[in-house]
Amino acid sequence: MKFDEAWERVASRAILQDRDELRFLFQLVRGAGCGSLLEIGSKCGGSLFVLAQALLPGSRVVSIDKHVNPKDATQLAGAVRHLKQRGFSAKDIAGNSHDPTVFAQLGDERFDLVFIDGDHNLEGARQDLGWYGARANKLIALHDVHNEGAKFRKLPSVYDLWREPHLQSKVRCDIRGHYGIGVVGVG
Ligand SMILES: C[S@@+](CC[C@H](N)C(=O)[O-])C[C@H]1O[C@@H](n2cnc3c(N)ncnc32)[C@H](O)[C@@H]1O
Repeated sequence: MKFDEAWERVASRAILQDRDELRFLFQLVRGAGCGSLLEIGSKCGGSLFVLAQALLPGSRVVSIDKHVNPKDATQLAGAVRHLKQRGFSAKDIAGNSHDPTVFAQLGDERFDLVFIDGDHNLEGARQDLGWYGARANKLIALHDVHNEGAKFRKLPSVYDLWREPHLQSKVRCDIRGHYGIGVVGVG
């Protein structure tokens, strides 16, 4: 499926992405020949569904979200069902990504792309990057790396994490638009 078709299919749900930024990431993921995706922070499943369409057919797709809003959980379950109908091996794990019992549910699974869009506070994002980024084979993408205006910027956030020298030395791509997506290459 092409990016625009995938975007239009989820546009009726909440998708908290800038269209052009996600298009850029989509093309990067497709070009890298990714065959699996782990997303931390899926909300209604919009970005999960769109990014899955950039993967190879029959790919593995896993979401972790703690679901503050039950309506989001219902929508995400619908997106996962839809992915399965389209031939993906998809599952969503409900829980806090910082909980070791949630992390343990991944077993020893690895993913070509890890997209981190959950806890945006500095230490939370750092933990997600450490735990889940270590499961990436090809690409790690972090959302909101340029979102200076958002309310979470009152506290140190993923914005600050992205500017740390250890990450900057591994930057593969820095997508600057509305929110900003930082992509780190692995290997
Ligand atoms: C910005 S939204 C994700 C938007 C989604 N990726 C999209 O583009 O449509 C952030 C999500 O992260 C989840 N979240 C925040 N902190 C989390 C944590 N520690 N563990 C799991 N999920 C978390 C929230 O429940 C929320 O659904």
